[in-house]
Amino acid sequence: MSLQVTVLLVVLLHNHIVSLASDPDPVKDFCIANTESAVDISSCKNSSTATVDDFVFSGIKSPGNFRETGFSGVSVNSNVFPGLNTLGMSFVRADFDVGGVNVPHFHPRATEIAFVLEGKVYSGFVDSNNRVYAKVIEKGEVMVFPRGLVHFQMNIGDKRATILGSFNSQNPGSQRIPTAIFGSGIEGELLEKAFGLSSKEISKLRKRFTPHT
Ligand SMILES: *[C@@H]1O[C@H](CO)[C@@H](O)[C@H](O)[C@H]1NC(C)=O
Repeated sequence: MSLQVTVLLVVLLHNHIVSLASDPDPVKDFCIANTESAVDISSCKNSSTATVDDFVFSGIKSPGNFRETGFSGVSVNSNVFPGLNTLGMSFVRADFDVGGVNVPHFHPRATEIAFVLEGKVYSGFVDSNNRVYAKVIEKGEVMVFPRGLVHFQMNIGDKRATILGSFNSQNPGSQRIPTAIFGSGIEGELLEKAFGLSSKEISKLRKRFTPHT
């Protein structure tokens, strides 16, 4: 293969990847995911049987279960709300006890914009040069977390805080850093070297962050 052809292929491939950098555009008004067929998200429920209730989700009237960190997050993505399928967006309700923390995490497939409904929240993200952008945001303010960047929040007010977030993907995904690193089964020796910690310290972290099933 000539050099020119190789370069052209690389450029085309790159453009192709860029053009797929968000959810695909819908090709019909809506496509309520057919939850009966576990096949894939391209399967739509027969649209003649759709009702208004397919477009309403009532599961975030109240907070979800709180984690040990004093944080509760309820994702409203296409898995729990099939009416969102193909529409390229989703939502989240997050509640914080006093002092509660949403641990550093990222969404591989979406930018998030978060609105403070109630409370005072130290909120921020880290860019790919490891620079942190963080401050306290209050009721009525929004903050944007660019796609794929690590971000975090902590309630620093004296009351419960609530945040509503929206995403430009029907299924943004979420990877919590402590769990991804210490709770996923990565070899202990690697973690000891990576973090300069003893095997005892790594065991403690693994115990703490391995999801209880
Ligand atoms: C969709 O539902 C309508 C009304 O029940 C029915 O007439 C039609 O045959 C269905 N279409 C398909 C593809 O199953």
